[in-house]
This record gives sequence, structure tokens and C-alpha cells, in this order.
Amino acid sequence: ATARFTLDPAFRVAPVSRRTFGTFVEHLGRCVYTGIFEPEHPAADEDGLRSDVLALTRELGISTVRYPGGNFVSGYRWEDGIGPLADRPTRLDLAWHSTEPNTFGLEEFIRWTRKAGVEPMMAVNLGTRGVQEALDVLEYCNIASGTRLSDLRIANGAKEPHGVRMWCLGNEMDGPWQIGHKNADEYGRLAAQTARAMRMVDPDLELVACGSSGSAIPTFGQWEATVLEHAYDVVDYVSCHAYYEEKDGDLGSFLASAVNMENFIADVVATADHVRAKKRSQKRINISFDEWNVWYLSRLADELPKGQDWPVAPRLLEDHYNLADAVVVGSLLITLLRHSDRVTSASLAQLVNVIAPIMTEPGGRAWKQTTFHPFAQASRHATGDVLRVEPTSPTYKTTEYGDVPVLHAVATHDEQTATTVVFAVNRSTDAPLSLEIDTRALGKTRVTEAYTLAGDDPYARNTADEPDRVSPRPNSSAVADSGSLRATLPPVSWNVIRLS
Ligand code: AHR
Repeated sequence: ATARFTLDPAFRVAPVSRRTFGTFVEHLGRCVYTGIFEPEHPAADEDGLRSDVLALTRELGISTVRYPGGNFVSGYRWEDGIGPLADRPTRLDLAWHSTEPNTFGLEEFIRWTRKAGVEPMMAVNLGTRGVQEALDVLEYCNIASGTRLSDLRIANGAKEPHGVRMWCLGNEMDGPWQIGHKNADEYGRLAAQTARAMRMVDPDLELVACGSSGSAIPTFGQWEATVLEHAYDVVDYVSCHAYYEEKDGDLGSFLASAVNMENFIADVVATADHVRAKKRSQKRINISFDEWNVWYLSRLADELPKGQDWPVAPRLLEDHYNLADAVVVGSLLITLLRHSDRVTSASLAQLVNVIAPIMTEPGGRAWKQTTFHPFAQASRHATGDVLRVEPTSPTYKTTEYGDVPVLHAVATHDEQTATTVVFAVNRSTDAPLSLEIDTRALGKTRVTEAYTLAGDDPYARNTADEPDRVSPRPNSSAVADSGSLRATLPPVSWNVIRLS
């Protein structure tokens, strides 16, 4: 079978947004404690931050990091996590039925972002709290000095303001599981009031209103419309959250998960633009896809602590990813890039241990899951502009999505370096795919790198002892000659081909 498309730098979707390559650190399980922060670890630095995790974080190539939740934020008091350790309270974390020791908080997080070279993206609690507490944490973070809370930050050792620009107005407020869950009118009003007040402090903030926590939730569509009716003028983004898993051994449907994400994005864009039309607004609301990943969510109920058991940093949501999961992550990244005109921010949920590309052992090693690779490669190679590619591809039948193209692809073109990069997934579970690309519009070009993440077993995983079992290997089949590029993509594979 052969799939084809044409590459032309004139077919430009939008610039690659670096914020597409964000991730997420929540106080959940071992993401923070024994994840990014473990003062007793041999690799811990002077701030208790694991330097081995910092090194992998830099290699992953992330831009923004969303913090401190997630469901956790809807019951969180941000001031519990600042100041002398001896004064910080131990609290119940109702979202994850755990105990929160608060030995890691805002200051430790900001220090970690500086060392990791990433942009912090903070969420405020609109579950148990409201406008005032959002203003307080903003004042603490962003005001230079001379007020009670900015001076408190200085007293806590941070002379310069943190300059946090992106703020999420709560988390998944549409979900009945959320502490302080609200209906769309209640949340829309609160989000608008909070945003308006936060903009009085700093009109240049970038604010994210909660969209739906999944496209299957019954309020999807109406939720976005109602929330934006209230908040359109004072927010910049509406969020999307989506998680995918292989169900009942249906690998074919699972590999086509991006079809669901494509539809989700199209529906949210249409809904936001509908509100724009009604309001005669000049402004467009973009999407912050600030939680996305493969997550075997169906296993969660068995994992959560219960009753009198309120552990600190339990092993929760430690999904162990296989090759197929990594190919789906790659395909979801392709979708985000293809929609770069409207999806200008995204966060892989999450960064360490909790549904994460990086795993750690307490006191032990840090290692890369299979899903690390497509993310790191896309982040490193996607520069310049996203190009529109319109493949013709053989299709295959899926139970969930009907006939789906076997090839899923996008490309980027960097004028400055005269480099074009193709990102492609072969969704076939059993057959290699020949790819033929018309490159005439690029002029003289050659393949400078070609990598494939594939293998005989779609269920192969990496482990702490064998961390490189599933990792990208050179693909020698990729060759460019005058005006065309040919490559063979193995079944269930993620591929990167670089031309310059
Ligand atoms: O990422 C795990 C959880 O998934 C987050 O806390 C929540 O926002 C979502 O439901």
C-alpha cells in the first residue's frame, strides 16, 4: 500500500507554537514527591530537586508546565506551600485521597522551572475558593514589591517577581468529581469575575477558561458556549482535556484515537466562533489543550486509596506505556500541530511518574517511557511553520471511527534553516506503508535524518532495567531524489524524516 502527499512551503497553517510542547506537574501520586522533588535522593541538588529528572526534562524539550493541578488545585490553599517548612501544614488531599505534606510549593516549583528552563503556567482554585484567593496568588507572584504579599515573596527569598503570564481559571469545573463542581452559568460567571479582577492587576495576562473535561461528557458543547457567553471578552483560551486507552484489545480503534481529538478540536473551535459571531467580537479564542495523553483510566478506581488510608505520595496512575501507546501519543501530537492555527497551547499530562514520559524509583533511577520519544523528537524538530499536508492514503476499518486513513502526517518548514520535517504515523497493525512525497516545491533537498519508532511487538515496554528497548532507530529506507521522497513506514510506527 502507498500513501502520498505534496510538500509545499506555501501551504502554511501557522507558526509552530512552542507552547504546544507543554506538560503538567500536579500534586498527585509521585509526580512531585519522589518525582521532581526528593531531597534524600543522591542526585538531589541544594533545593531537593532531582538533577537526573531535570536532565531528562531538558532532553524532553518542554515549554510550559501547568501546576499545581488538576483535580488537586480545586481544594488547594496555595499559601500552605510557602514560607518556612516548619510552619507549613499537613493537609488532606481529597482529590486523590492522599496526605499533602506541603514540603513542596510555589517557590520550589518556580525554582524548578528556572532550572528546567520552562515557563510556569499556574492554575487557581475555583473549586473551594474564588476571586480573592486568585488575586492573592497573583499579587504574591507578579507584583514587584511594596505590598503585603509581594513583600512576603521577597521575605521567602524571591526578590524578583515570578512573572507568571498564563493562568488557568480552575480545573475541569464541568466534572461532577471536581471539588466545588459548578454548572456552566455558575462557572462562567465566576471565571469572568476572576479574569476581570486579575486583569485589573495585569491586563496582559493570558487566561484559560475551563472547557470540557472530555468530549463524551454530557454537557460538552453547551458548556463551552455558556462559559464563553460569560467570559469571552476577558479570556484568551478555552481548555480541552482528552485521554485515550486501548479498550478490549481493539488496537485498530486505539491507533485511530486522533480522529476523536480532531473532532473535539473542530467542535470547540466552531463553538467559540459561534459565540464570537453572536458577540460581534473581533477577537478569537484559541484552544489550550492542557491535558492530553494515553491513560488507562479504567484502572483508576482500583488504584485509589480508600477509608482511613491517606498515604503521602502513593503510586497512583503509574501507567507503563508500550510501543502502541507511544505511536498514539505521536499521532495526537500530529493532530495538535495540524491545528496550530487554533491550538496554540497544550500540556501532555503529566511529566513524571503519573501517566508520564519520565519514570523514577524513589532513591533510584530515572528512565524514559516509550512515550518520551515522539514528544522529544517533535519538540526538537518542529520549528518554523506548520505546513498543510493532505495525504491520499489507504484506509482501514475501525469499530469506533469507521474507515480511517492508515497514514497520519504533518510537516514543518523552517525558512531560516531551510529544513523541512515530516512527522508520520503508520496506523496499520500488520503491514508496512510506502510513503511517496512530492517535494518539487522545496527545490534541491536531501534526507539528513530519518528515525522510526517501531518493533515486532506493539506491546513492548521500556523498564528501569531496559530503558532503551523501545527507542527510535535510523530508517535507511528514506531517500530523496529529484522532486520526491520515498520511505517505508513499518506497521504501528512513529516516524520523523528531516530534509534540508
Ligand atoms: O491528569 C490527571 C487528572 O485528570 C487531573 O487531575 C484532572 O484534571 C483530570 O481529570
